Amino acid sequence: MAEAGPGGSPDWLTSGFAHLWLPYAQMKLAPTPIAVVGADGARLKLADGRELIDGVSSWWTTCHGYNHPHVRAAVAAQLQAVPHVMLGGLATEPTLRLAKRLAGLLPGDLDHVFFSESGSVSVEIGMKMAVQCWINRGQTGRHRFVSFRFGYHGDTLAAMSVCDPDEGMHGLFKGYLPRQIIADVPRTQEQQAEFVRLLRAHRNEVAAVIIEPLVQGAGGMKFHEPEVLRICADTNQTVFMITHDVDEAILLADKIVLMTNGPGAKIAEIVVNTMPRNERHRNDLHRHPQYYAIRNHLVEFLVNRSKAFDQEIVDGNYDPRRLKLVKPGLAAVNPPAEVVPLRQTH
Ligand SMILES: Cc1ncc(COP(=O)(O)O)c(C=O)c1O
Repeated sequence: MAEAGPGGSPDWLTSGFAHLWLPYAQMKLAPTPIAVVGADGARLKLADGRELIDGVSSWWTTCHGYNHPHVRAAVAAQLQAVPHVMLGGLATEPTLRLAKRLAGLLPGDLDHVFFSESGSVSVEIGMKMAVQCWINRGQTGRHRFVSFRFGYHGDTLAAMSVCDPDEGMHGLFKGYLPRQIIADVPRTQEQQAEFVRLLRAHRNEVAAVIIEPLVQGAGGMKFHEPEVLRICADTNQTVFMITHDVDEAILLADKIVLMTNGPGAKIAEIVVNTMPRNERHRNDLHRHPQYYAIRNHLVEFLVNRSKAFDQEIVDGNYDPRRLKLVKPGLAAVNPPAEVVPLRQTH
């Protein structure tokens, strides 16, 4: 247990927080963070002894759960051997083995991998590759991007330029960012025809279309038909990104379609959402007794699915063409007693 400072917080929290800038937060209003001293599976252990279920998977980065024995053993073994070398003229076996395995999972002639360290940087890399691809073909004017209202692609400068310019988090930078072509996600036939016209009109200046396939995550779990992707793909210019967000799914969707993180894995489970959704409920979501039941159900499902996926990879049984599992079901009504709602910890 960490040493307690004044008011029951550990010393490191009160003395260190004064020197920290948080992402996406107004520092004068931001509450002191919750001190975490351990993590296992979907659960976080707090400095005061309580436990939380991490329903957002550490901002959707711990897709296999915390402290996964397979991941932990692989990281420890690699740290002993070679922690890291740059890819500029050097290589290690795991890097190339992973690239080859990922390439094997991709469809068609997609058989190369470029590694990056975050979602935003991967978007920057994808955008840069698209522009360079056209330069290499002698078309230097193709450096704009078509992106969609309610889209979110990250927090670095080029990635910000393809996020929703009005409803998103980057409105302040509107006049500064490169101006992209922002479209509505084409859902109806009319919108689809309009979208094709837009692509044709801008075809000599567009480097790529960027879209979160099937669901816009951070912009509000907004779903669209696979037809939208076909239209984008037909232009031969597409860059695809993917995300999911458990909280927003609970808030907005009648049926929560859950996707796993395995490459090529598709729909994993459909949960009938029993929560009422209206304006007042939006602000009150965390007080609803069923909220934690549904959320825990989804989180446990994702963690279990990730473990099964991991085992399939180890056993060599993973088949990206197989639809993993479709299991309609109602979430349990009573939240487990030991789960502490985040709001009550302040
Ligand atoms: C679709 C999508 N692209 C890019 C990003 C940015 O990822 P990161 O926060 O790792 O930079 C996110 C983050 O939520 C995302 O949802």
